[in-house]
Amino acid sequence: MYRTHTCGELRLSDAGKQVTLAGWVQRIRKMGSLNFVDLRDRYGITQLVTDDNGPREVTDILNQLGREYVLQAKGIVAERQSKNSKIPTGDIEIKLSKLTILNPAVTPPFTIEDQTDGGEDLRAKYRYLDLRRNPLKNALMLRHTMALEARKYLDGNNFMEIETPCLIKSTPEGARDFVVPSRMNPGQFYALPQSPQQFKQLLMVAGYDRYFQIVRCFRDEDLRADRQPEFTQIDCEMSFVEREDVLQMFEGLVKHLFKTVLHKDFTAPFLRMPYDEALAHYGSDKPDMRFEMLIHEITKNVQGKGFSVFDSAKYVGAIAVPGCADYSRKQIDELTEWVKRPQVGAKGLIYIKLNTDGSIKSSVDKFYSPEELKNIAEVVEAKENDLILVMCGDKHKTQVALGTTRLEMGNRLGLRDNSIYKPLWVYDFPLLEWDDETQRFYAMHHPFTAPKPEDMDKYYSDDKYGLAEVKANSYDFVLNGTEVGGGSIRIHDSKVQHRMFEILGFTKEQAEYRFGFLMNAFKFGAPPHGGLAFGFDRFCALFGGQDTIRDYIAFPKNNMGRDVMADAPSYIDDVQMKELYITSTAPKQEEK
Ligand code: AMO
Repeated sequence: MYRTHTCGELRLSDAGKQVTLAGWVQRIRKMGSLNFVDLRDRYGITQLVTDDNGPREVTDILNQLGREYVLQAKGIVAERQSKNSKIPTGDIEIKLSKLTILNPAVTPPFTIEDQTDGGEDLRAKYRYLDLRRNPLKNALMLRHTMALEARKYLDGNNFMEIETPCLIKSTPEGARDFVVPSRMNPGQFYALPQSPQQFKQLLMVAGYDRYFQIVRCFRDEDLRADRQPEFTQIDCEMSFVEREDVLQMFEGLVKHLFKTVLHKDFTAPFLRMPYDEALAHYGSDKPDMRFEMLIHEITKNVQGKGFSVFDSAKYVGAIAVPGCADYSRKQIDELTEWVKRPQVGAKGLIYIKLNTDGSIKSSVDKFYSPEELKNIAEVVEAKENDLILVMCGDKHKTQVALGTTRLEMGNRLGLRDNSIYKPLWVYDFPLLEWDDETQRFYAMHHPFTAPKPEDMDKYYSDDKYGLAEVKANSYDFVLNGTEVGGGSIRIHDSKVQHRMFEILGFTKEQAEYRFGFLMNAFKFGAPPHGGLAFGFDRFCALFGGQDTIRDYIAFPKNNMGRDVMADAPSYIDDVQMKELYITSTAPKQEEK
């Protein structure tokens, strides 16, 4: 037996026991004649001790040890002289009788401590060493617990976990597909699934009325802190349901996870908000509900007073930032530059300060009397000492810019506390998005999402503006300003589905080529169905109080989509290329 106990297990009640531990050297210390080794494994750290007069074999080995050596230690559990209350094993130590080096280790390139001296790139290269550190270990443990609890809940509600294929037909709609060449079918490609969407719908046709899968998805899109090219979903689908059934079921799942993983009880129903309201008041389809600072439209209140910038704008909106009336000229200038960045997208910024002495100061004093400014302050629900920020322009763009500024000000004021959770359902999204560049509609969620029954007339009309107003029977689950999940009631009628493909600009042949198998299946009796998928990595990161998902994935990619550790993607040799009937037109690079 390599070990009788783990390094996190022994307590004072074990004193006197003969034990064997195995693990890695965390630290070696010498104090007078005493020699200490902290031995670490996944479960914790246990102190080993011997004095210079201890067994010769032990002291000999002690002298050879270095950090991260793998050891086996035998000895007796004893009460410690100076206890360490910071670790659960801090009351005891092992008086060594035998020490064996199971494997030596070269010095690691960074310290394996909670606060390490290793930079991000170095840690990515040696990910397996980084994974030895507590913050990453705890992140993966949290992920494990969440997956387990999700499975328990879903299993308890009659969901079956069914695996769907990874090599599928390419049907790009949304993100770009990753593709895989087929050796046996020259010139043809599989795609990796962006999600199992069509398969789970087929499972509904097959009669498996409650499906789920904790499943890897692949999307070739630009990466961010909360986006990886391969990520995991808790993917779910149900038959014979309406939106309310789906929301109830998965609100139950989220509550179960909060309770079992974070020990937080959410008894009240989650807040719900239509998409239009989310945009109007939060400038986002994923509002962060941890703080107020709502956006208010003030177009009518500011127009007709001679200020041409506002007079010519389609929309004027504002937020009141609490306690910031003392912002200096320099700070306002800096903020104005910030809102003009392309990521924010505002054309400029007007301010109104509600000073603590009751006076009002603004950058448009020339055009508005103090009473008019007070009137604006009232609409914006501003209080004394608030700084009102005003933007104008195209309605949607200005709302989004105000929303981005709201989040920035929330950050600056420390209002986005990661230990507070504010869940929200957003619903009634537009079904379609118009793209000016390609002059066509795109499905806002995906092309299988059902339009709301009351919008069917508009759905079948050829009026572009009418179509833009059709609402989808869809919903997103939002937590602290992050879209954690999304889903919809699906189209189960092939006529409605054909119309969708027509709106999206597919000819009959194109639709048949891409989605024929699903359309065919629908002819054989498709039940009404709907579902959703949670972004599991995002869920874990939020539960762990972090903004970035990378630490919740054992082996993630960097921002360029590279696995820095394995150095992938990489070139393949000419033979492999030939077998796959592939020729590369990429500029020739040096082989590594
Ligand atoms: P959607 O595309 O909204 O829906 O994806 C569901 C959830 O997956 C997460 N997510 C991601 N997480 C990390 N990296 C990414 N690149 C990434 N892309 C998406 C998000 C998102 O809310 N088939 C539908 C679901 C359905 O309709 O049932 C779908 O995939 O948290």
